Amino acid sequence: MSDDLQRKIQDAIQNPKNVGEMQDADSVGTVGSPDCGDMLRMWVKFKEDDKGRKIIDRATFQTFGCETAIAVASVATELIAGKTVDEALSLSGTDLSAPLGALPPMKIHCAQLVEGALRSALAPTPAAATPAPAPAKTGSLYESFAAPPTERKVKVVLNPPAAPAES
Ligand code: FES
Repeated sequence: MSDDLQRKIQDAIQNPKNVGEMQDADSVGTVGSPDCGDMLRMWVKFKEDDKGRKIIDRATFQTFGCETAIAVASVATELIAGKTVDEALSLSGTDLSAPLGALPPMKIHCAQLVEGALRSALAPTPAAATPAPAPAKTGSLYESFAAPPTERKVKVVLNPPAAPAES
């Protein structure tokens, strides 16, 4: 990891932006990384702009993730403010982490964790077994995982396993 990237990540985690549960959120998405087991939840609040478009007013996050995930989530929540849902959904993990600079290959999945949480919040997948919990009733990320499995209210979206290669 370059010194510049390391410095930007340290700067971001020393003063992360938009951390914490959003009580009045319109949508929430939670994902777990199949690569490292870390978790990230993102809350989104919408508003209407002066052209009548639905845009992202603000976004917040909580995570059991590494420093890179925290830094990417911090810059990503700032990056998506003011964007439409389609504009935000068009952003890849690389786009969301761009303010930090290029991530090394071993850290790309950290940005993909942020991308996944954003996608889950903006466009819940039909494959999800349960609907996203109502934002106002969402406990902390810790509380979600401290609860017995049958009482968990968190939606976890994992990447499907790769299809076996045809011979
Ligand atoms: Fe798990 Fe970065 S190592 S999110």
